Amino acid sequence: DADADMRTRPPVVTIMGHVDHGKTSLLDALRSTSVAAGEAGGITQHIGAYQVTLPSGDKMTFIDTPGHEAFTAMRARGAQVTDIVVLVVAADDGVMPQTIEAIRHAKAANVPIIVAINKIDRPDANPTRVRSELLQYDIAVEEMGGETQDVEVSALKREGLDKLQEAILLQAEILDLKANPDRSAEGTVVESRLDRGRGPVATILVQKGTLKQGDIVVAGTEQGRIRAMLDEHGKPVTSAGPSVPVEILGLSGVPSAGEAFVVVEDEGRAREIAEFRQR
Ligand code: GTP
Ligand code: NA
Ligand code: MG
Repeated sequence: DADADMRTRPPVVTIMGHVDHGKTSLLDALRSTSVAAGEAGGITQHIGAYQVTLPSGDKMTFIDTPGHEAFTAMRARGAQVTDIVVLVVAADDGVMPQTIEAIRHAKAANVPIIVAINKIDRPDANPTRVRSELLQYDIAVEEMGGETQDVEVSALKREGLDKLQEAILLQAEILDLKANPDRSAEGTVVESRLDRGRGPVATILVQKGTLKQGDIVVAGTEQGRIRAMLDEHGKPVTSAGPSVPVEILGLSGVPSAGEAFVVVEDEGRAREIAEFRQR
């Protein structure tokens, strides 16, 4: 794409950290809804993708990931599709095994980290200890003489959320994120499932171009014409631009998470590419 076609796009922000350190709660607070309360056992077992519009009009896309040790692959994928990782560390618990794992994924994907020290409302909260523990893993926050932004937050009391959003916007500005919305869409499957009534459903993140209802797509080894698109509230939408997550219906089967999707010119070509990939 020529430089002149590029437009600023919202940052994609993946929330990572140890189990129960408050990732989903923090995202709920940022979205002012309540997902964590509705989860089985309060454990995230999938990737959620949401776009938030701030009162200023600035948009940011969040991807939630599970902290349970079983979900390493989801964390790795989350780090690969993102521009920024928000590393959530509970101020009472400190750096734990999946905190360290999340740092490794972010560093492997060469993605900047913003540290959110959560649960600062707890009487046993010790944010200073968290900052010094992080030094052992090559994360030096500003107070420790480094350049990594850190923000103290309480998802529960909804404190520090403005500061966290400011930190994300600042990091996004530094990254100078751009994409051309006026071309056919490309992106990545973030999760997928077979819905009894609706058939294969894929949540995809548009990374380039604009995806439109009726477009013919190849996603991994599956293909099809997009019959419907839904935003994270289940509301139908007819187009989705760069950094927008949407659920798509109309695929021939369930594509694997992490696979690329691309819009193609006709159904024959789509089948050809999908069949080639199946071999
Ligand atoms: P997984 O997705 O399973 O890894 O967990 P998570 O990191 O998404 O944590 P979750 O949001 O499910 O929160 C875990 C527990 O911590 C819940 O009981 C929350 O109510 C609690 N919690 C989250 N944020 C805060 C906070 O800021 N302060 C306090 N005191 N508790 C919190
Ligand atoms: Na949890
Ligand atoms: Mg969670």
